[in-house]
Amino acid sequence: MNPFRYGKIVSGQDFCGREPLLKQIIGYIKSSQNIVIQGERRIGKSSAIYEAVQRCKGIQYLYMDLLGIKSIDALCKRILRAIVVLEQKAGFFDKIIKTLSYLRPSISVDPITLMPTITFDASVELKANSIPEVLSLIESLHKKKRIVVVLDEFQDILQLGDAREALSLMRGKIQFQKDIPYVFAGSIRNKMDEIFTHPDSPFFKSAIPITVDPLPYPEFSEFLKKKFATGKRGINDEVLKKVFEIAHDIPGDIQQLCEALWTVTPSNSVTGLEKLKDVLELIFAREQKSYENDMSLLTDFQIRCLLTIAREGGNKVFSVPFMKSAGVNNPSSVRRAIRRMINLNILFESKNEYRFVNPFFRAWINYRGR
Ligand SMILES: Nc1ncnc2c1ncn2[C@@H]1O[C@H](COP(=O)(O)OP(=O)(O)OP(=O)(O)O)[C@@H](O)[C@H]1O
Ligand SMILES: [Mg+2]
Repeated sequence: MNPFRYGKIVSGQDFCGREPLLKQIIGYIKSSQNIVIQGERRIGKSSAIYEAVQRCKGIQYLYMDLLGIKSIDALCKRILRAIVVLEQKAGFFDKIIKTLSYLRPSISVDPITLMPTITFDASVELKANSIPEVLSLIESLHKKKRIVVVLDEFQDILQLGDAREALSLMRGKIQFQKDIPYVFAGSIRNKMDEIFTHPDSPFFKSAIPITVDPLPYPEFSEFLKKKFATGKRGINDEVLKKVFEIAHDIPGDIQQLCEALWTVTPSNSVTGLEKLKDVLELIFAREQKSYENDMSLLTDFQIRCLLTIAREGGNKVFSVPFMKSAGVNNPSSVRRAIRRMINLNILFESKNEYRFVNPFFRAWINYRGR
C-alpha cells in the first residue's frame, strides 16, 4: 500500500518529527495558554496541533474548522456541531436543547456514520448575540472534562460582514475563560496578522504566536526514505533534494510528489531523477481540470502576468524587465491582476514574492509552454 499521505491531517506513524514544536504546544495547552499557530498552506499546522493534543493525556479536542464560513449563523452552528460530536452524553444534550430552545434543536444519530448530529429550525438565524451563549456551552463542557478548543482556518472569520462584532464578542467571552486553552490556527499569514497583531483588533496580543516552519531536510528525508523502503523502493538524496525544491519545502506537496513517485516506481528498484518527469505528468493528469478551470476565470491580461510569474518567478513583478516580458506597461494594472489571482487563491504573497499556491500548477504552465 502506498505509504504517503497528503491533503489531510497526519498523526502517529505518519507524523514526522517536530518534537520541539510539539513540546511547546503541549506546554501551552497544559497551562491553558491561548496560542495562535501560523504558517504556509500545507505546512503541517493542523497535524501538529492534532498530534500535540493526542499526546496530552486526559485533555479532549474540541475542533472547529472555520474554512469558508459566511455568516455568524454558520459560525455558531459549527461550534455547536463540534460540541455535539464531542459530547455524546444525553445529559449535556439536554442543556444544549434548553439553552437554545428558541432554535428548536433536535439531535439525532446519523444512520450511516452513527455520529450524533444536531439540526436547527432553518427559519431561525443565529445572530451575534448567540456567540456568548454558544461559548458559554464550551465553559459548561469544560467543567465536566478538560478540553482544548481548536479554531482552525480562523482567518476566515474576516469574511463575515460583521467580522469585527463577531471577533469582539468572542474575545469578550474567551478572555474570561482563563482555564480553557484556545488554539487559533490559520494559513493566510497577512489576514491572521490582522487579527492578532493589529492594535485595533479585539484579538490584539491575545494569544502567543507560534510559527510552523518546513520540516528540516535531514529529518524529513530519512522519514520519507523509510517509507519508500517499506515497499522495497530506494530513493537517493539527489532525487529527494529535487522533490523538496519543486515543492518549495512544503511537507504536503513533498508527500504528494512522493505518493506519485511510489506509483511510477516498481518495487525492488531505485528511483532516479528521470522518474520526475513521469511523476509530474501523473500529477498534471490528475489536476489538469482544476488548472484549466482556474485559467478560465482569468482575463488575457491576468493570464499573461501569471505565465510570466510561472516562468520568471514573482519577486520583481513591478520591474521593467518583468513588465516587458509580460507585455504590459502599467504597474497598477499588474497589481490589480495579482490581487485578483490572490483572491482566487491561485497566488499568495510570501516575503515580498508572489508564489503559486499550488507549485504543480506552476510546473504545468512551464511544461505546457515548451
Ligand atoms: N509532521 C509531518 N510529518 C509528515 N507529513 C506532514 C507533517 N506535517 C504535514 N505533513 C504533510 O502535509 C500535509 C498537510 O498537513 P496539514 O493538513 O496538517 O497542514 P496545514 O498547514 O494544516 O494545511 P492547510 O493550510 O491546508 O490547512 C499532510 O497531509 C502531510 O502530507
Ligand atoms: Mg490545516
